[in-house]
Amino acid sequence: MTIISPSLLACDFLNIEPELMAFSGVKDMWFHLDIMDGHFVPNLTFGHPIIELIAKKSPHKCDAHFMVTNPEFHGETLKNAGLHNFTFHLEAVMDSLSLIKELKKNYPSVGISIKPNTPTHKLSDEILKAVDLVLVMSVEPGFGGQSFMPSAFDKIKELKKRRESLKAHFQIQVDGGVTDKNAKELIEAGADNLVAGSYVFKTTKDNYKNKIESLRSF
Ligand code: DX5
Ligand code: ZN
Repeated sequence: MTIISPSLLACDFLNIEPELMAFSGVKDMWFHLDIMDGHFVPNLTFGHPIIELIAKKSPHKCDAHFMVTNPEFHGETLKNAGLHNFTFHLEAVMDSLSLIKELKKNYPSVGISIKPNTPTHKLSDEILKAVDLVLVMSVEPGFGGQSFMPSAFDKIKELKKRRESLKAHFQIQVDGGVTDKNAKELIEAGADNLVAGSYVFKTTKDNYKNKIESLRSF
């Protein structure tokens, strides 16, 4: 089953707990937490106290997407927060492989992300064999509510091919502008995990679950 990961960036921040609970009982979903530092991307979101509270209250696994210049620091300081997946950006660090190995000591799942202008060949075979998830950005990271960039399709297909030839096991996740208009094609291309912010949350709370299912039931 395709995992759907609603991005909390689009939720009602004044009511985070009821927002989280609105998804209880949904199968195969993660909460996606977008952490931005104002350096790697221009925008700021939320930091450690909020991440820890969300992870503690969440009825689902938490998937943290770090759009930051120093993921090493956050990997260390959040190691007991209860996050399931820790994703950092290839573009942000010098030695991704060492960081993956370090993060694997503390997180059940470790992901690496590439921005729209970063080609998939920048991810070495060693990296692809070491990670649990590759996040293909289908918008420039930094803001929710942007339009999907179709260049993500080829990247997903390339990664699926390399996963087969390397006998690797990473999930392919796509993030940015995902809606019911592109979800089917993304899954057919090879995406295992769809992040969706505005599409899921721009409705009433009683409709969130339907929005999730509309991204994977065709
Ligand atoms: C963008 C974030 C995304 C964003 C997705 O930098 O990484 O997770 O919240 O939002 P939508 O689905 O609205 O494009
Ligand atoms: Zn994200």
